[in-house]
Amino acid sequence: MSRALALLLLPLGALGQLQSPPPAEDLDPAPDVLHVRLRAAASGDAPWLYAYNGQNPGPTLRAKVGDTLVVELENTLDDPTTIHWHGVAVPWAMDGVTWMGAPVAPGETFEYRFTLTRPGTFWYHPHFDTARQVDAGLYGVLVVEDPAEPAVDDLVLVFDTVAEHGAPRHADLGRVRWWVNGQPAPATVSRRGGSLLRVRMLNASNAGYLALRWPDLRQIAGDQGLLPRLHTPERVLLGPGQRAEFEWRVGEAGFTVENEPHSLHGGDAFGEPAPLVELRVDAPAPAPDGAPWPFPGGEPSEDPPYADIVYAFAGSDRTQRWMINGERFPDVTVEAVPLGAEVVLELRNLSPTEHPFHLHGLHFEVLSVNGTPPPLRTIADTWNLAVHDVVRVRFTADNPGDWMAHCHILPHAEDGMMTVLRVE
Ligand code: C2O
Ligand code: CU
Repeated sequence: MSRALALLLLPLGALGQLQSPPPAEDLDPAPDVLHVRLRAAASGDAPWLYAYNGQNPGPTLRAKVGDTLVVELENTLDDPTTIHWHGVAVPWAMDGVTWMGAPVAPGETFEYRFTLTRPGTFWYHPHFDTARQVDAGLYGVLVVEDPAEPAVDDLVLVFDTVAEHGAPRHADLGRVRWWVNGQPAPATVSRRGGSLLRVRMLNASNAGYLALRWPDLRQIAGDQGLLPRLHTPERVLLGPGQRAEFEWRVGEAGFTVENEPHSLHGGDAFGEPAPLVELRVDAPAPAPDGAPWPFPGGEPSEDPPYADIVYAFAGSDRTQRWMINGERFPDVTVEAVPLGAEVVLELRNLSPTEHPFHLHGLHFEVLSVNGTPPPLRTIADTWNLAVHDVVRVRFTADNPGDWMAHCHILPHAEDGMMTVLRVE
């Protein structure tokens, strides 16, 4: 997002002490319905800044598996808009895309309504003029809780890049600064020693990567709910659109979440790590054990010696032309698969740039990266393709619709690196 003035946009709690972006009022008293109104409006601080309900990030929507989510989107912008429910397998008419459909016109209201079937950390954002509208500040987190998981103090952290000079342009190239829940980094979280915290992170940046590192890094979930088991990598890469969840065991001493330089053009980059979030310990005490997360277990599925569909990602910064299989959206070949089919999709990155691949309406298992299975069974809706990667994924085509498949570097998608996969 590009804004410098937005510091004034909203007081999200006391400055310095970080909290989850506040919720929106639930208009339905029924316990299994979350009904909210999201008003997309210019923020008033600068003409290029937008917000939902005057908040950046937008309200955190929190529901549980089996609940019905009802969202009235009120469009008070001068532009059409929509909401896409990133990572949620919604009925196609609720997906917020404008392929073969119209967006919500200025002055209109549209009601999104669907059932939440999978726990996880999802997010919502427009899918019309997407790079600009997300950059302008329209996004928020949707948490779907599973009552079978331990109830733990829960913190949502939304990361976004802001152009340093606040120019009205995408904050994807040049000098950017990371913001956390609408505040410039580093932000501070304070908790008592001896407490446990579930931290849900979203990278909402149009094009910025996060390569995060902190001591005792304990990842419990990816972008589609709990991992098969606790994962303790040295660092976590979060590309645009990706989410992950962690447990923080607060003990005697605080720590800093550092963002290491990461280049779009292939992994490590030069530069110093930058502090993003600082954990401060209020009353030091021994760290607790981890929570008894009901990890499902399981190993990666076998990578078969074929692919049903291949998507080849090509393009370059020099030409600023980005495509899949040589085509630029909307002039694309629509691949169709029958409802219920098991489909193996091969993603080939032929370009000198990384691309976070996102598939709507479905989720997939990562079978292999350059021929090697992932270290643990991985279910995802967004997966980063490193430079020259060949990645195999498999999904069950269990949701009928015309699903967008695209790079989540939004300027790449907007330029054409997007196609359609039909389940019929
Ligand atoms: Cu998060 Cu097609 O988008
Ligand atoms: Cu891309």
